[in-house]
Amino acid sequence: MKELSRIASAVQASTTLALDALYKEMKARGIDVIGFAAGEPDFPTPDYIKYAGIAGIVNDQTKYTPAVGTLELRRAICYRLREDMGLEYAPANIVVSSGAKHCLYVALRALINPGDEVIIPTPAWVTYTEMVKMVGGIPVTIPATEAEQFKLTPEKLEAAINDNSKVLMLNNPSNPTGMLYSREELEAIAAVCVKHDLYIISDEIYYGLLYDGRTFTSMAALGEEVRERTILINGVSKSYAMTGWRIGYIAADQRITSVIAKYLSHSTGNASAPAQAASMAAVYLPQDTVESMRRAFEERRNYMVERMNSIPGVSCLKPEGAFYVMMNITKLLGKTLYGRVIRNADDFADVFLEKGLVCVVPCTGFGDSNFVRWSYAASMKDITRGLDRLEKFLREAGV
Ligand SMILES: Cc1ncc(COP(=O)(O)O)c(C=O)c1O
Repeated sequence: MKELSRIASAVQASTTLALDALYKEMKARGIDVIGFAAGEPDFPTPDYIKYAGIAGIVNDQTKYTPAVGTLELRRAICYRLREDMGLEYAPANIVVSSGAKHCLYVALRALINPGDEVIIPTPAWVTYTEMVKMVGGIPVTIPATEAEQFKLTPEKLEAAINDNSKVLMLNNPSNPTGMLYSREELEAIAAVCVKHDLYIISDEIYYGLLYDGRTFTSMAALGEEVRERTILINGVSKSYAMTGWRIGYIAADQRITSVIAKYLSHSTGNASAPAQAASMAAVYLPQDTVESMRRAFEERRNYMVERMNSIPGVSCLKPEGAFYVMMNITKLLGKTLYGRVIRNADDFADVFLEKGLVCVVPCTGFGDSNFVRWSYAASMKDITRGLDRLEKFLREAGV
């Protein structure tokens, strides 16, 4: 038979897939293993949002909608962007699609010609590089160290730019680092993008989850010159505990949204109509439940970071947003734990799962194999037990 698509075949399986399969198999065998790998809130979707989804079904919001989403939802998104970020968008600037992940994909589709380079500061969400390759682009990663707070600097960005550079993909606050760019930091990065005529895909999906009283600045809020080249990505998955409803959105210049609209009309069509009804309630109604979930995450983060930094052999920075902690395992590299030499995060994650009965994600796929990622979107009880296990695991291995 003739070969399959070379582009599709070259897509890498997620590095966490094998680990996840092992974790699920252990659970299915009745083993008391604790998982910190999931990138989703452990809370249920709030009831009023669920009921809005049910009402959508009962009221026959069960048919095709415009490919870019209902006008009501796009208006409600404009309202939310104005309230939370001071942004003025019209419904024609908004595209709703099946999750922020798909929004990122269609945004790249609208921007990239074969061979265009997309700059990705790392550590970054594993999907970015694969997605760029899927649309025929070339991912160019710029690594940042823990000492640099895992953040891109304007100098490093400037040095990575050449004639093929087209887009900067920035995630703020970041999965997996939890770091947040300040307004000043964003301004310095945006100035380089304006100077070299780069588009900016600004993934702000975790903007609602910030801690210690921090405030959020959207890339699109830095003035007209920046906003016209920014494709803002957001969605309801993380802030409203709605990962399974699959609703994300794009805010951008109409020149860009009109191309995306055509692409969607010939591919997915509209996102699920009842899920759009539920999302309308999420973004339009008062945000009290978002705030109570945020407070719970903050409490869990505080506990996790303090405990982790008190355990010999590992350490972490205090994340400023999202719900992930990058645990530094550099001190464990080269040591033998339970008969296995730890060469990198993958080795550590394997042994920790098998012998410590805790599942964490090696950050190799995110761009740094000296770290593993813990999600604190887990119950306080599990977080406590997970860290107890980490302490015992390392102590009994003689660390
Ligand atoms: C940085 C980042 N962007 C986008 C997404 C995708 O969100 P959605 O569930 O809306 O597709 C995720 C989910 O893990 C994420 O971590």
